[in-house]
Amino acid sequence: MEKRQQWGSRYGFIMAAVGSAVGLGNIWRFPAVAYENGGGAFFLPYLFAILTAGIPILILEFTIGQKYRGSSPLSLFRMNKKAEWLGWWQVLIAFVICTYYSVIIAWAIKYTIYSFGTQWGSDPSKFLFGKVLQLSDKPGEIGGLVSGIVTPLLFVWAVTLFVLFRGVSKGIEKLNKIFLPTLIVMFLVIVVRALTLDGAASGLNAFFKPNWDMILNGKVWIAAYGQIFFSLSIGFAIMITYSSYLPKKSDINNNAFITAFANSGFELLAGIGVFAALGFMAKQQGVPIDEVVSSGIGLAFVVFPSIINEFPGLNGLFGVLFFLSLVFAGMTSLISIVETFVAAVQDKFNVSRTKAVLTGGLTATVISLLFATHGGLYLLDVVDYFINNFGIVFAGLIEVVLIAWFFKGLTGLQKHTNEISDLRVGAWWKVCLGVITPLVLGYMMFDNIRQNLKENYEKYPTELILYAGVIVVAVTIIVAVLLSLKGWKASANTEENREVA
Ligand code: ALA
Repeated sequence: MEKRQQWGSRYGFIMAAVGSAVGLGNIWRFPAVAYENGGGAFFLPYLFAILTAGIPILILEFTIGQKYRGSSPLSLFRMNKKAEWLGWWQVLIAFVICTYYSVIIAWAIKYTIYSFGTQWGSDPSKFLFGKVLQLSDKPGEIGGLVSGIVTPLLFVWAVTLFVLFRGVSKGIEKLNKIFLPTLIVMFLVIVVRALTLDGAASGLNAFFKPNWDMILNGKVWIAAYGQIFFSLSIGFAIMITYSSYLPKKSDINNNAFITAFANSGFELLAGIGVFAALGFMAKQQGVPIDEVVSSGIGLAFVVFPSIINEFPGLNGLFGVLFFLSLVFAGMTSLISIVETFVAAVQDKFNVSRTKAVLTGGLTATVISLLFATHGGLYLLDVVDYFINNFGIVFAGLIEVVLIAWFFKGLTGLQKHTNEISDLRVGAWWKVCLGVITPLVLGYMMFDNIRQNLKENYEKYPTELILYAGVIVVAVTIIVAVLLSLKGWKASANTEENREVA
């Protein structure tokens, strides 16, 4: 068995954790989610979700990883022999996410290049769906591979696997120490430039204006929790895996607060930058803001190119900075997602890191090609919607309920983290994890399923979302349980292997 790797420094760990948290979710999801769910009023449920679920779960996952020093399945197995399947389930969710997340980064790479000379022309929508994605006419028509997407996609995977081959401190930590500060500088330039555009103030006004009527709507709270889970990278094995590389004496609680606030800070920055730019576009076109707001693919690859078209002076440069920010933010998150199953395969089958990267990474690469087909976008949209609205939140709910109530693990974990952290967590931590979060998440799941049964998500038939969703959840749980039934190779469960090299 190879010696367990370790972060080079506390700063390196924080960079990697923040790098994982700050991702596509911050830039293209948060601004529109906040706007559509009450604007300024959204910050209340958002803050509530961070304080009652985000930070407590982050502390929980950091503690589990640091204490039991293993990939998510191994750490949970060491905590309680019956908990291993939960670790595999989280790893499988991470696996699904990385297969489409990598494709979005590939699009962003293409658009970084298209920014030179604003090659999308005067109709960015036609350009995206027609020329770049070559989208088939309706969902279900997969068609062949789109070669223009396959090339950058393979590049994304090559970089990811290369970094993971190099290991924790020489690969992941080094990359994050370069990418994260660069991202912040690039993004600050974007925000400052956007703020000086004509119309920026009205964009910000639209973003921050509170719509208090919405605060009692359950959907708004669901949106806040969903955003926090995806954005903080909690509930899908990442933070357990990353903290398993912490030295024995490491602060946990403070690191969790730093990670969560850095992530939210970036999210807020993204909201300001995006809405300042949207305000500019609305002014140019003489339309109200809500006519130009969009999220996800529409925001990044249709609205932003349109904004860039109207940009005064050096518009190509603004485009390069924006799309490169997406690439950098995405890469540091993608690497953390892939590391979850690389570490799990390595622990379970007692193989070298190189072998684990090759098997896990290449399998994910091949599956990601599905999203680089003519029907890839439809598939991506459904999978992303499902993962965000059910998958991660459901996994998070099961995680807190099992650990708090069935494995009764909170007291031991609280004691551990308080022994090594500067900042101590009190009874509030257990109340949040054992009571508030399960209640809110439980209600959310129920309400979400009810609403989805009532109305279809966009143009997709309910059956597709719900039945396919149920099948995916069932299959991933079955596979997770089967994996957990297989014994650990070598001596994964011995005390010595928890020692740090
Ligand atoms: N936390 C990552 C994001 O926000 C996955 O995109």
